Amino acid sequence: MEAIEQARQQYYLDDAPTLSDAQYDTYYAELLALEGAYPLLVTSDSPTQTVGGARSEMFEPVAHLERMLSLDDVFDEAEFDAWVARVVKELGEFPTMIAEPKVDGLAVDLVYAEGTLRTCATRGDGRVGEDVTFNTSYIDSIPRTLAQPIPLLEVRGEIYFNLRQFNDLNDEVMAAGRSPFANPRNAAAGTLRQRIDRRQVELREVRAAAGAAPSARQQARIERLLAEQARATGALARLHFVSHGLGAHEGLTVATLSEAFDLLDGLGLPVSSEAAVVTSPEQVRAYIDDLGQRRRSLPHEIDGVVVKVDQIALQRRFGATSRTPRWAVAYKYPPEVVRTRLRSIEVNVGRTGRVTPFAIMEPVRVAGSTVTMATLHNPGEVARKGVLIGDTVLLRKAGDVIPEVIGPVVEARDGSERPFQMPTLCPVCRTPLGPEREGDADIRCPNARGCPAQVRERLHHVGTRAAMDIEGLGEKAAQALLDCALVTNEGDLFGVTEDDLLRCPFFTRAGRAGTAPQLTANAVALLAQLTQARTRPLSRVLVALSIRHVGPTAATALARAFGSLTAVRAATHAELAAVDGVGEVIAEAIVEWFAEPWRAAIAQRWLDCGVTAQEEQADAGLSQHLAGLTFVLTGTLPGFTRESAAEAVTARGGKVTGSVSKRTNWVVAGDNPGSKYDRAVALGVPVLDAAGFRALLAPDPTPPPAALPG
Ligand code: IVH
Repeated sequence: MEAIEQARQQYYLDDAPTLSDAQYDTYYAELLALEGAYPLLVTSDSPTQTVGGARSEMFEPVAHLERMLSLDDVFDEAEFDAWVARVVKELGEFPTMIAEPKVDGLAVDLVYAEGTLRTCATRGDGRVGEDVTFNTSYIDSIPRTLAQPIPLLEVRGEIYFNLRQFNDLNDEVMAAGRSPFANPRNAAAGTLRQRIDRRQVELREVRAAAGAAPSARQQARIERLLAEQARATGALARLHFVSHGLGAHEGLTVATLSEAFDLLDGLGLPVSSEAAVVTSPEQVRAYIDDLGQRRRSLPHEIDGVVVKVDQIALQRRFGATSRTPRWAVAYKYPPEVVRTRLRSIEVNVGRTGRVTPFAIMEPVRVAGSTVTMATLHNPGEVARKGVLIGDTVLLRKAGDVIPEVIGPVVEARDGSERPFQMPTLCPVCRTPLGPEREGDADIRCPNARGCPAQVRERLHHVGTRAAMDIEGLGEKAAQALLDCALVTNEGDLFGVTEDDLLRCPFFTRAGRAGTAPQLTANAVALLAQLTQARTRPLSRVLVALSIRHVGPTAATALARAFGSLTAVRAATHAELAAVDGVGEVIAEAIVEWFAEPWRAAIAQRWLDCGVTAQEEQADAGLSQHLAGLTFVLTGTLPGFTRESAAEAVTARGGKVTGSVSKRTNWVVAGDNPGSKYDRAVALGVPVLDAAGFRALLAPDPTPPPAALPG
C-alpha cells in the first residue's frame, strides 16, 4: 500500500512517475486481492477507496459541484464480461451504452455560469481540485463562452497532448537537459500545473524595480523570465481538451449521455469524434478491437476504451462506490510505454553507407510484441536523448510499429552507466568513417563499392516492394548470392541462372540417393520472380538503383518526364532539375551516380540482362487534369485501397499528402474517416465522398463534384 501511495504521489503531484503504469496496475491488483481476502484490513484512506491525485498546495482549491469519479479498470475480455454480467443481472438486459477512447490526459472540471467559463480545476481528490483557470486561457479548445447562456453547466473532460506535440515538447525538455515526460498524461499535467501567473507577477515586479535603466543582472533576470514564460505558454497552447461527461447543470435537460455530447458539441465544447453508441457486448468488443487496431494512427495516445451506460436515470440507479461509478468501466490496452535496460549500443551499416547506432535492450513486451532493438539514428540523436549504456530507458512503439527509445530514467542511475563512443572505423570493412559533408549529422562508410554490408543491403533493397518487388530476395537470399559469389554486386542479379543457383547450398536440397542436388521451391520461385521483375516500370528501376534521394516520388516524376533509363542517364543536370518534384539536390545525386563508372555499369548490366526500364504506357495515357491539386485521403473508400486511391491521384498528376492544411484542395473521406475529416471541416477544405472522388477521377469531371455537407 505504501508503494502505491508513493507512486500515486509521484504520479499525480510530481508528474514524474517512478513505477510504470503496468507495474502500478499490478500492485493495485495485489492490494485489491489482499483486501478482498481480509476485508477488515481495508482502511478508508486505502488507494482502493480514494481517488488518486490529491491536491498540492501550489494552487487555490476549488470544490467541484458534483464529485469527480475515477474508473474501475478491466484488462481482458473475461474481466470485461464479468462487468457486463453484473450490469445485465441488475437490469435483466444489456442497456444501450456509449464507448469512447480513454484519452491519456488529465481530467479537469469546467464550470460555466450563464455561458461564461468561471473555473477550470484539476480532479484533485475528487471533491476539491486545483484552480488552473488562468492557464486554460491559453488552450484554444476550451471556449471562454458557450454558444448559449446556459445558467449552469459543469463539464468534465480530458486535457491532453497530441503525440506530435508531446514529442516536440519532449525534444525541448531533453534539449534543456531534463528527463523526458514518460507519457502524454504526465506532460499534460506538468504543463498545466505551472504557475505562469506567478511568473507574470514576478516579471512585473522586476520590471517595475528596474525602471527605465535595468542593471545587467536585472536585464538577465527579465530575459530569463520572459524565456521561461514563452516556453510555458507555448507548451500550454499546444494542449487540447475533449469533453467526456457532465456534472451539475441547470437550465437544460438530458436523458442520455449521447444526447449530452450532442448538446456540448452544439455549445462549442469539443467531444470525441470516436464516441459510439453500442447496443450489445459484441458491439463493444468490436469497438475495442477496432480502436485497438487504429490506436497508433490516432493523433493522441489512448490507454483504453471507456464504456458507460448511456441513460442517465440508469446511471443513478447503479450509483458509485467511494471512488468509481458502477455504470462505467475502463478497458485498458496493454501499455505502450515500458521500461527496460539498455544493455549496449552497437552500429549498423546501411545501404547508403550510413552508420547507425542502435540500442540493444533487455527483451520487453510493448504494444503486442517483444522488443530487443531500436534504432538511435545517429550519434547526435544518442547525445540528444542523453542515454548511457546501462541506463534504464523508456521505450515505446512510435507512430506505426517501430520501437523507439524515448530517453533515460535519470533517477534510476547508479553510476555504473557509461557513454556511447561512435566507432572511427567501419565495423564491417574497416574504412575510416566520417560525415560526408561538414556539418552532416550522419556518419558514413565511404566505401560504397566494396563495403560488404553496403553491397548486401543494396542487393536486398532491389527486391523490396517499392523497388523491383522480388519476394524471394530476402536478407538471407541476398547474403547467399554474395557468399557463393554468384553475384559481386546488384549489377549481376538479373544475370543469375538456374545453374548458378544449383552451385549454392542455400538454394538447393539433396536429390534422391545418388542424384544431383535440386533447386528448392523458393529458388525456383526466385528465378520466376527475376523474370517478371525485368519488365517492372522505370520508376521502380530507378528506386532499385539506390541513387541517393531517389525514392518512389522522385522516381515517378523522373520516369514520367524521361520515359526510359537511357534518357535519364543522358539527361543533363539542368534537364533533371527542371522536372517538377526533382530539383537541384536530386539532379546532382543522379548525375554523380551515373558519373561513377562502377555504378553506371550496374545500370548497363541490368539493361544487358533484359531489364526493360520503360515507363508504363497506361499512366502516360491518362489525362493529367489533377495536376497542381493536393489531396488528403482518410477513412476506407469502397472500391479502393489506400494505395490504389493514392495512385489514381498521382497518375492523373495530383499530389497526395498526409495532413490537411489550408493548401489542401480536396479531402477524400471514406467510411469511418479520422480526425483529418474534422480538420477539413474546420478549415473549410472541401470534402469528397467515394462517388465524388470517382467523378473527379474521370477525365472530364463535370458537373463539379459536390462537397459533402459539414
Ligand atoms: S469518464 C465517472 N471518459 O480516465 C466517469 N474518463 O481512469 C469518470 N479518461 O479520471 C471519467 N478518457 O481522467 C471518462 N472518455 C473518457 C475518458 C476518461 C480518459 C480519464 C479520466 C478519468 C480516468 C479514470
